[in-house]
Order: sequence, then structure tokens, then C-alpha cells
Amino acid sequence: VTKLSNKLLLTIEWKNNYLVLIDQTKLPTKLTYVRCRSYKDVADAIRKLVVRGAPAIGVAAAFGLALAAINSKTNNLKIFSKELSNAYATIRSTRPTAVNLQWALDRIMQKIMNLKDIPHIKKVILREALLMAKEDIETNKSMGINGANLFSDGDTIMTHCNAGSLATVAYGTALGVIRAVKESGKKISVIATETRPVMQGSRLTAFELQHENIDVSLIPDTAVGHIMRSGIVKHVIVGADRILSTGHVFNKIGTYQLAVLAKTHNIPFYVVAPASTFDLKNKPKDIVIEERSKDEVIRIGKKIVAPPNIGVINPAFDMTPPKLITKIITEKGIVSPPYTKSIKKIMG
Ligand code: MRU
Repeated sequence: VTKLSNKLLLTIEWKNNYLVLIDQTKLPTKLTYVRCRSYKDVADAIRKLVVRGAPAIGVAAAFGLALAAINSKTNNLKIFSKELSNAYATIRSTRPTAVNLQWALDRIMQKIMNLKDIPHIKKVILREALLMAKEDIETNKSMGINGANLFSDGDTIMTHCNAGSLATVAYGTALGVIRAVKESGKKISVIATETRPVMQGSRLTAFELQHENIDVSLIPDTAVGHIMRSGIVKHVIVGADRILSTGHVFNKIGTYQLAVLAKTHNIPFYVVAPASTFDLKNKPKDIVIEERSKDEVIRIGKKIVAPPNIGVINPAFDMTPPKLITKIITEKGIVSPPYTKSIKKIMG
């Protein structure tokens, strides 16, 4: 890991006619990259968690549509549109919970809705995807600036999963705020939960913060309550995959537990997410929580740690109700309860 830490972490990068992604399934031991030359490669990368984290899968999905357009050989608009809708459907079907995926695909489709000239449409799609990648970094930096004032010198902050550079194009959402706190000259320490079963906390957050020289200690998920009771945790900060108009937050499985425990111990619980993570249409019961393979639970790496024929329940996300959330930090500002009112005001 020390040897890797000189390299710049750019999760998603467009290189003329293909997409380069950090292969997050190989971290923290290997910093390697995957090339996606078609929309199917992108869909595969999202499905296999080569690229993950709500904003990152949104931007990757946009480049997936760009690849579908660029690779098309037809000059018949009807066939071209059909090819794009197939790509849209394939990419859309990869993961159901993070709304950024749908948001990004829809933003591209809307942009080209009334266009008729295929070469021009190809240019517009790529331009929009590149713009989304650029905006993602700017948005993260704005959230960092907005959130940094909530923290003081010497604070210890707990985070869950990975809402950092690796979950975005760069800089991060929750970890972006942590970066901004550090950049403002305050000394802070981070406690990262390991985030079973896919270990985004230990494999990605611990790696990323160490890479940035931010003080970080890793804890087992099971130690959260004990450590909160000890009094060292001053704040909890997490990202989000989808936030409803009521302030219900869908995020990595275990977030709800952290929020309940934070409430019990009077620790402020903050969620950091861009406007693209807000879903103002749906209700909690409409949201599909992704169920992932039982393999993630019965194995740690290659080692089997449970009877292989055991029944497993493996939800990848959970829902935290608004009453447990102290503030939501966005690029447009910070919202506080009552969320139905404050979210409507800020998101329009
Ligand atoms: O399954 P993952 O790794 O894609 O889940 C990621 C999370 O739950 C993150 O906390 C969330 O996407 C916010 S990322 C800025």
C-alpha cells in the first residue's frame, strides 16, 4: 500500500475512445485499472463493483451511453435510437438502489431528445458525460466547503462504507467533507467501519485516507456501539445512494444501525450527498433494496467462513429514517429537519 500511495486516485477517466476505471475489487493490495471499450463492459464493471458508489456509477453509466453511441455503425436514426435504448436498459438493470444511475442516464437521454443528426448526437452525448464528470468533482468540493464548518479541531469522526474519491470521480462526498476539514487546517481523526460483507470501509476508505495522510483507524462493524459509548466519536458522517423528499436516506447496509446508535449516544449524524442523489418522486416502499449474492457473506476473500449450504440474507442497502439524521449536506447548502420542508425549499 505504501508503494501505491504516490499514484493519483482518479476513479473514472475518459481516454479518447474508451473509459478507464480503477478496479476497486483489487484494492487495497493492487492499484490496477480496467478499460471499458463498450457499454457492455461498463455494465459489467458496475455489476461486479469494479466501479461503485452512487455518484461514480452515475458518471460511469453516462460514459456507457457515450460508448454505445460512438460504437454504433448505423446511419439510420431509428436503428441508432433502438441501440441507445438497449444500452440504457442494460446499464439501468445493473444496480437498483442508487438513484444517480437513473439520473445520469435520463440526463443524457433528455439532452438528445430532439436531435436528429447521428454524428452530432454522438458528440452531444460524450460532451454531456465529460461535463458530468467535471461537475461531479466541483459538486464534491462545494459540499466539502459547506460541511467543513460543522467540525472542530481535534474531532474524531466515524464513517461507514466508502463515500470518498473512489465512490465519485474524485474528492468524495462524506470523505470530501473530511478532506475539506483537513484542508481548512483542522486536525481530525477518522474511524472507519470495515463494512462487511464487501469491506468498502477496510478495503477502500482505509486505503484512501491513508493515501491522503488523514489519520484513520479501522474498527469491526460490531465495535460501533462500544466505541460510541466510550465518548471519542464527536460526529458520524456518511454518503447516500438515494434521499427521498421526506429525508429518508438509503445507504450502505449498516448505516441505519450507526444512526440508531448515534442517536442513543447523542452524536450528530450527517449525510452528505449531491442533488443528483435526491429522488423527489418515490416513497420508501417503492425503493428496491439490492439483494446481493450469498457468496459475499459465506466467504471472506477465497476462504469459506460459513457452512456453504446455509441460507443467507444479504441486503446491500438500508433505509435510515429522517428522525435519526441531524443534517444533510448538499452542494446547494445544508438542510435540517423538518426535511419535507427544507428539502423542497433547497431542491425546488
Ligand atoms: O455497494 P456500493 O459500494 O456501491 O455502496 C456505496 C454506498 O453505499 C455509499 O455510501 C454511497 O454510494 C455514497 S457514495 C458517495
